[in-house]
Amino acid sequence: MHDPIDQLLAEHREIMAEVETLRRAVLDLRARGDAALPGAVPALASVGRMMATRLLRHARKEDEALFPAIEHALGAGGGPTAVMREDHRAIHERATVFRETLRELNEVEHPAIVAGGARLRALAGGGADAATLAETGEQVVSLLDLHFGKEEDILFPMAREALSRDALRAVAERMAAIEAEAA
Ligand SMILES: [Fe+2]
Ligand SMILES: [Fe+2]
Repeated sequence: MHDPIDQLLAEHREIMAEVETLRRAVLDLRARGDAALPGAVPALASVGRMMATRLLRHARKEDEALFPAIEHALGAGGGPTAVMREDHRAIHERATVFRETLRELNEVEHPAIVAGGARLRALAGGGADAATLAETGEQVVSLLDLHFGKEEDILFPMAREALSRDALRAVAERMAAIEAEAA
């Protein structure tokens, strides 16, 4: 089986490699102003497109495959591994924190990322000045840095702990189905 967490991590790296283009474009816009527009606009447009395709697919894998599996494991008392390691009170406390983190990632940050991508595409399409483009680009970059960091530091380690081998296999299968839909 392909480890689904490893796959999501690999997708983070691929997505962030493309986001580097946006980071450089923002720096260039800040440094050179409107003179940087001819180079920066295509970069913003391309990252905007990636956010509507590859990044959206990545978020769907989390929203529809990984997060429900974690919710389910937390509901079942934190999963067999966690039960062996922790007392019930600690599991309960962590489950509450994890549920809040899940909700934030799913209901607040994923929609904010989708909206940021749409803003990038709209601005790149029509005559915005360097300062506006740089500001939107910075917002998207910091949103992604924060979001990916939270998933990598909190969510993915929690998933590794909470999910059984069977649960991980089911997540991998649902993720593959989402990927196949897009192909
Ligand atoms: Fe995410
Ligand atoms: Fe992610």
